[in-house]
Amino acid sequence: MEIIIQPTPEAASQIAARIIARLLREKPNAVLGLATGSTPLLLYQELIRMKLDWSRVTTFNLDEYVGLPPDHPQSYHHFMHTHLFRHINIPPNQIHIPDGMAKDIPAFCKHYEDQIAAAGGIDLQVLGIGTDGHIGFNEPSSSLASRTRIKTLTDQTRRDNARFFRSLDEVPYHVITMGIGTIMEARQILLLAFGKHKARAIAEAVEGPITAMNPASVLQLHPVVKVCLDEAAASELKRADYYRWVYDHKPAWQRG
Ligand code: GLP
Repeated sequence: MEIIIQPTPEAASQIAARIIARLLREKPNAVLGLATGSTPLLLYQELIRMKLDWSRVTTFNLDEYVGLPPDHPQSYHHFMHTHLFRHINIPPNQIHIPDGMAKDIPAFCKHYEDQIAAAGGIDLQVLGIGTDGHIGFNEPSSSLASRTRIKTLTDQTRRDNARFFRSLDEVPYHVITMGIGTIMEARQILLLAFGKHKARAIAEAVEGPITAMNPASVLQLHPVVKVCLDEAAASELKRADYYRWVYDHKPAWQRG
C-alpha cells in the first residue's frame, strides 16, 4: 500500500485526480469504478475542472440503495449525475450504476458482474471508507470473496448516512453493492479518507490484521493500492512518519 498523507482533503484529492487523469491519458478507454459519499466530492470537482476526455471511458459505480428510483435525490444515480456525469462528456450508455429498483435482485447482480467482465474489468476503483471500515456497502463480516449482491446496512451506517435524508426512518435498510471480491479484481485501487472520524477505520485497515471485521483491511492483499489521506484521517497511523518519508523520497520516475 502506498499511503499518501496531505495537509488537507483538497491537496489529497488533487493527487487522486492527477492519478486518474494520468490513467485516462494513457488509456482513453479506461474502465473506472466510482464511489459516492462526501469523500469523493472534491475529487470529482477537480476532475471536472481538468476538462478530461471521457468520451471513451466506461464507469461502474460501487453501490445503490434498494428501493430508491434513479431520480430520488438521495439515490446514488442522482448523486453521480449531479456531482460528475452531467459535467463531463461521458456517453450515458457507458455509465453503469446498480439498479436499486431491480425486480430480480440476484439476476441483476449477476448481470452487473457480467457487464464488468465484458468491459474488460475495472482499471481503477475509487473507494471511500465507512467509519466501520466498510468499502462499497460491504459491512463488517462481509465475505472477503463476495461478489455483487444485496446487503443489509448496519445501524451505524444507516445513522452515518441519515444526514443526507430528512430523517433516519427514510434511510433504506438494503443496498446492492459490488462485493469485496469484485473490488479486489480492479487493477488499481484509490482509497480516499478525510477527517478524524475516519482515523480509526484507516488505522485498522492499513496497520491492523486482515479481517472481515474491517473490510478495507483486505486491501493489504492487493498489489496496487494508493491511500490518499488528510492529516486528520492519518492521525491514528503508527507509522505515519515512515509513509511521509517514503512519499518524499520517491524516485523521480515514480512521481505522478
Ligand atoms: C457510504 C458509501 C461508501 C462510502 C462511505 C463513506 O456508505 N456506500 O462507498 O465510502 O459511505 O461515506 P462518506 O464519504 O460520506 O464519509
